[in-house]
Amino acid sequence: MKKFWDRKEKPYVLIVFLLPFFWMLGSLLLGHYFPDPGKLLMRLSGIWACVLMAAALSVTPLMKFKHLKALTRYRRFIGLSAFFYAILHLVIYLVLFAGLSWRWIRSDLLEKPYIYAGVLALVVLFVLAITSTKKMMKRLGRNWKRLHRCVYLAALAILLHLWWQVKSDTSLAVIFSVIFALLLGYRLIVNRKYLTFKRGH
Ligand code: HEM
Repeated sequence: MKKFWDRKEKPYVLIVFLLPFFWMLGSLLLGHYFPDPGKLLMRLSGIWACVLMAAALSVTPLMKFKHLKALTRYRRFIGLSAFFYAILHLVIYLVLFAGLSWRWIRSDLLEKPYIYAGVLALVVLFVLAITSTKKMMKRLGRNWKRLHRCVYLAALAILLHLWWQVKSDTSLAVIFSVIFALLLGYRLIVNRKYLTFKRGH
C-alpha cells in the first residue's frame, strides 16, 4: 500500500485526471460530436469540473478511513484538475459557442444571466488555485483556511448556474445539489461539534 502511494506514481495520477480531456479531444477530432460539438463539449467539460470539485470536497470526510488518509496528498491536485476542466469549459464557450466574438458574448450574457453565476464560481476557483501553493499557505497563515472555505461559495455558485439554466431536465442539477448538500452538511456538523467541544474545555 505504502509503495503504491509513493511520489513516483504522480505522473500516472496526472494521466488519469487528464483522461476525460483526451477522450473529449479524441472524440472531437474523430467527428463524434458533429454537427454541434460545442453543446456536448460544454456539458461534458462542465460535468467533469463539477465531479472533480465534489471529489476535492470529499477528501476530508474520506480521511476518517485509515486506509484513505493518503488521499490528502492529492487534494490540491484534484482541486486544480477541477479548475482545469472549468477553464476548458470557458475556452469551449469562447471558441466554439462565441467564435471569439465579443459582440456575440455581450448579447448572450443578456439572454443567459446564469453565466454570471458560472463566472463567479470560476473566479473563486481561480483565487483558490493561485493560493494553493505551500508558499501561499505559509504567507497567508490562518487566513489560508478561511479563504479556502470559499470553495463552498464556488459550489453554491455552480448550483445556481445549473438550476438557473434548467429548462425541463432537472437531473444534473438535482444530482449535484444532493452531492454538494451532503458535503456541506458534513462540514457544518463537524464544525459545530468542534466548536461545542472547544467551549466545553
Ligand atoms: C466563465 C465561466 C462559465 C461560463 C461562461 C459558463 C457557460 C455555460 C453555458 C453557456 C452553459 C450552457 C451550455 C448549453 O447551452 O448547452 C453551461 C452549462 C454548464 N456549465 Fe457552465 N459556465 C461557466 C462556469 C462553469 C463552472 C465553473 C462549472 C462547474 C464547475 C460549470 C458547469 C456547467 C455544467 C455542468 C453545465 C451543463 C448543464 C446542463 O447541461 O444541464 N460552468 N455553462
